[in-house]
Amino acid sequence: MRNCLIIALLLTAAPAFAADEGAMEYREHTMEAVGGHMQAIVDIIRRKVPHTSHLAMHVNAIDDIAKIVDTLFPAGSEGGDALPAIWKDPADFAEKIQTFQMASAALREAAASGDMAIIGPGLGRMGESCKGCHDNYRAE
Ligand code: HEC
Repeated sequence: MRNCLIIALLLTAAPAFAADEGAMEYREHTMEAVGGHMQAIVDIIRRKVPHTSHLAMHVNAIDDIAKIVDTLFPAGSEGGDALPAIWKDPADFAEKIQTFQMASAALREAAASGDMAIIGPGLGRMGESCKGCHDNYRAE
């Protein structure tokens, strides 16, 4: 009887969302970093700041993160704004990751060239790849 009570208490204390809350929070922190670099890139492109020389650094950071994005959604980390569809349709989700990785790699090359005529469109394509995933797999 006493054991039953303890088990009931433990179940009530279980987290309301992700079983692996650490992995969920790590994913959110990592995505926030991507968002921060993206906003910094926009600040540079809009000439809010004169730091054109920082552009490649921000782009490279996003491209580095794109390469590990597939490890941010382990089973058990469901929750936050990540929709259940991620774990229900892993093949389609993997395609979204690949589109992001291709766009970020292309933008890395463009940024290295310093040629604004290709950086602009490259940035647009990468932005579309963020949206392409968020539209289907992230809650508002
Ligand atoms: C393959 C899918 C995918 C791609 C590509 C992607 N994201 Fe996300 N992003 C997500 C998911 C899912 C979440 C919600 C994570 C959570 O709440 O656990 C998220 C969350 C975020 C967040 C909010 C983080 C927070 O505080 O919870 C930001 C900012 C963000 N993404 C920016 C970006 C930007 C900018 C790009 C492109 C450069 C991008 N993302 C590409 C899936 C993606």
